[in-house]
Amino acid sequence: MKLMELIDISYIYHSADGETEAIKGVDLTIEEGGFTAIVGPSGSGKTTLLKIMAGLIKPSRGKVLLPENVKIAYMPQRDQLFEWRNILKNVTISQEIEKQDKREAERYAEELLDKYGLGEFKKKHPSALSGGMRQRAALIRTLLSRPRLTLLDEPFSALDFQTRLYVSDDVFRILSSEKKSCVMVTHDISEAISIADRVVLLTRRPATVKAIYRIELDKSAPPTVRRELAGFTEYFKTIFSDMESSDE
Ligand SMILES: Nc1ncnc2c1ncn2[C@@H]1O[C@H](COP(=O)(O)OP(=O)(O)O)[C@@H](O)[C@H]1O
Ligand SMILES: [Mg+2]
Repeated sequence: MKLMELIDISYIYHSADGETEAIKGVDLTIEEGGFTAIVGPSGSGKTTLLKIMAGLIKPSRGKVLLPENVKIAYMPQRDQLFEWRNILKNVTISQEIEKQDKREAERYAEELLDKYGLGEFKKKHPSALSGGMRQRAALIRTLLSRPRLTLLDEPFSALDFQTRLYVSDDVFRILSSEKKSCVMVTHDISEAISIADRVVLLTRRPATVKAIYRIELDKSAPPTVRRELAGFTEYFKTIFSDMESSDE
């Protein structure tokens, strides 16, 4: 089933120094149950595209189609946990702002925190957690609204390389066991191939879709294992050389 369809999307930023065309004529379909990674060079327009998908900004041209009542959650690039709130209060903040049933929100939050190894930290403040644990907490906050589609903007970019590997396994495990459809933006080709079943390559700004790749690696294997599989390097070489050739 189609969860979202982007039709001929363009986006232009207007500022005091003039216009910046960030996205140009992007067509893209997101299927239920899939994990799509969007890759492209820094400044190519990835965040802009994800914000359009999240409904945070309106495209200058084109349409975003989605079935009624599809709940979308968006995780911005920085983890944005508030130091003055404990972890439980951080992950339930949207439900608190929307004045939803507090007991139900906290019950589901505690269930997810326990399940993903943060149960003991729910009364701690963010600075007491490692980078990887904070990232897990941010993801749990994103999932708490029970979205049909989860949008992640460079979820691992603030982490060092080792932590990034562990945390991508965590994030993969959480999203697959909660059966979420997901779109993740990254500038890291290896990261995209290791976690997604489809990779969308964008050109430099203004972003257009350069190519789409189906990743036929074992879907049940976590990212660190997929990095070791035969076939991984071939995908990397292909996408890397296509990304370079968009430089002309
Ligand atoms: N608020 C803004 N005003 C003007 N230009 C912007 C704004 N936000 C982003 N841009 C420009 O749009 C382009 C795409 O930005 P962005 O979507 O953040 O790229 P990416 O996430 O791929 O690094 C960049 O050249 C950036 O400088
Ligand atoms: Mg970005």
